[in-house]
Amino acid sequence: MRFRQLGSSDLQVSEVCLGSWLTYGGGVADDRAEACVAKAFEVGINFIDTANVYSGGRAEEFLGEVLADRPRDSYVLATKLYFGMPNGDRGLSREQVHKQIDDSLRRLRTDYVDLYQCHRYDWDTPLEETMEALTEVVRAGKARWLGFSEWPAEKIEEAVNLPGVEKFVSSQPQYSMLWRGPERDVIPASKANGISQIVWSPLAQGILTGKYKPGEPPPEGTRATSESMGHFMDAARDEVLLERVQQLRPIADELGITLAQLAIAWVLREPNVASAIIGASRPEQVEDNVGGVGVHLDEATLGRIDEILGDKVRWEGPAS
Ligand SMILES: NC(=O)c1ccc[n+]([C@@H]2O[C@H](COP(=O)([O-])OP(=O)(O)OC[C@H]3O[C@@H](n4cnc5c(N)ncnc54)[C@H](OP(=O)(O)O)[C@@H]3O)[C@@H](O)[C@H]2O)c1
Repeated sequence: MRFRQLGSSDLQVSEVCLGSWLTYGGGVADDRAEACVAKAFEVGINFIDTANVYSGGRAEEFLGEVLADRPRDSYVLATKLYFGMPNGDRGLSREQVHKQIDDSLRRLRTDYVDLYQCHRYDWDTPLEETMEALTEVVRAGKARWLGFSEWPAEKIEEAVNLPGVEKFVSSQPQYSMLWRGPERDVIPASKANGISQIVWSPLAQGILTGKYKPGEPPPEGTRATSESMGHFMDAARDEVLLERVQQLRPIADELGITLAQLAIAWVLREPNVASAIIGASRPEQVEDNVGGVGVHLDEATLGRIDEILGDKVRWEGPAS
């Protein structure tokens, strides 16, 4: 495994991070989920990402249980707040920041998280209030560092320029061969301010592994066929896209790697990316995906990828 520094923090994070959206405490059975976490540690992953909202709090509870026996300083733990919880709690007000961190710490069975992230920008709360509350959380020792997910560049700039508050060290955008919006302004704004990207859906939820074939129904047991996890998988029905992904296969073959590894290597080619946050429903997937660490993609290869994917590459801005 290789490690990168997370922005201006003192955290060294593995280039692959294990995420828990939809999967743990949710669509993946606990014993299989536990095997994925064990495999992650076995292959050198030291970075785990979750959120209060994942499976309505159950992802954090699951992680609290399976991480309980590991030394707390042997891994970097990240969670988030903002989205609506089952009891109606939501947003980044001072009250919510204090309430949500305490609820997350209780579910995660720990005294602190290494990274506390704002899952989206809260347009209903003044930025000063959010940043002051987050600063109080850091100074109380409940979170070591702060991050955000899918914030617009102008709000990143505004936040880092506020006086007297803790600074963000990480940004969590969607980023993959197919989703490149962050290159427009989030990555430049981050680079200028000591902020790294930790990127979500680097495999486009499995599409970039090539297992969804054009003209064939999605294979049984995949996210696209899952009742609880398949809601955001429209791309698995885009025949043109699926065909183009298959055209990437010779590139991976020539490099002696899998398509999943090509997708991971592609996001890690960007120096401002500290880690690729993968999901995994099986331990073998964790093993496959970390094989993308340390694979160098030269300019000619990157050019071929761009040519094949063509107009299937999307450039939307942040989801906030
Ligand atoms: N900040 C945000 O707003 C946000 C949003 C979304 C996600 N995230 C974070 O990012 C993490 C990753 O997101 P994601 O789950 O969409 O990421 P992803 O890595 O793009 O997709 C993961 C899914 O692809 C399939 N897969 C993974 N590796 C595979 C392999 N080697 N071969 C074949 N299939 C494979 C698995 O699904 P099946 O086996 O079920 O097909 C797996 O659950 C989340 O867990 C979460 O922590 C953050």
